[in-house]
Amino acid sequence: LMHIFYKNAALTDYLKSINIQQTSIGFVPTMGALHQGHLSLMERSMLENEITVVSIFVNPTQFNNLEDLAKYPRTLDEDVKKIESLNPKIIIFAPNVEDIYDGKPSSESFDFDGLENQMEGKFRPGHFNGVGTVVQRLFEIVKPTNAYFGEKDFQQLQIIKKMVAKKNMGINVIGCQIFREPNKLAMSSRNELMSPNEKQEASLIYETLLNAKEKFETNSAHAVTDYVQKTFKKNTDFKLEYFQIADEVTLLPCLRKNKNKKYRAFIAVFINKIRLIDTISLN
Ligand code: PAJ
Repeated sequence: LMHIFYKNAALTDYLKSINIQQTSIGFVPTMGALHQGHLSLMERSMLENEITVVSIFVNPTQFNNLEDLAKYPRTLDEDVKKIESLNPKIIIFAPNVEDIYDGKPSSESFDFDGLENQMEGKFRPGHFNGVGTVVQRLFEIVKPTNAYFGEKDFQQLQIIKKMVAKKNMGINVIGCQIFREPNKLAMSSRNELMSPNEKQEASLIYETLLNAKEKFETNSAHAVTDYVQKTFKKNTDFKLEYFQIADEVTLLPCLRKNKNKKYRAFIAVFINKIRLIDTISLN
């Protein structure tokens, strides 16, 4: 018997009814269209907590593009089945826009100490204010002990860690490794919008990141960036939006290598109309 709640009050009443004092709550926020990457976060949460709550909510305020919001896949029935076959003890929270946003959906304006000005923040104006707003709201409702986020959206993970620290929310934010398709394409709900042929071609993204990692051992960030730009120019199905080698903590671009810092490569690329992101640690 699955526990699925559509209203804030129904979820919070249920969470109050179980003996919460001694219970650790793991939380996995998602926008649905679930895949193995999402399920791996839930599995980890089930291992580390007595209770796991998964939210499924396509958050309108984090989409900077109405067309992207309109075509975002919505598959609640299948999502519920996937969660049930993973573990029927997982609690599902699937609210409406009205339950999360009273009145008109709008975002709070956050200061994430500049993390929001890099990469996704540059190319998706308002995106991280939308993410911060909805995650803060979900945290208030679920009151998790531990919250799980994928490294696929590494900038988002760092921004949530920053929000929790700056607002003293007292939640452990846990980063989880990227789950990949057999051809190493990072799993994403947006992959469902690609043709089988496009999916196959998209393996170039991670292949290029692996080559970039190898080249970064003996080359500058600038030279590696040049290599990546050339690689995507050769294939007309791709349009590179950005490639950036950045400090893992500040997310500022690496201008000169510093042995004491950890670096990571970040990429956003369009394959025809679908926008994909990926990242790799360079240490
Ligand atoms: P969504 O894209 O559905 O992703 C939900 C969580 O799953 C995120 O933490 C994301 O990083 C993680 N994830 C996605 N693909 C993954 C993969 N291949 N391997 C591992 N983890 C993966 O990210 C969001 O939703 C939203 O911004 C949200 C945080 C729910 C706020 O609306």
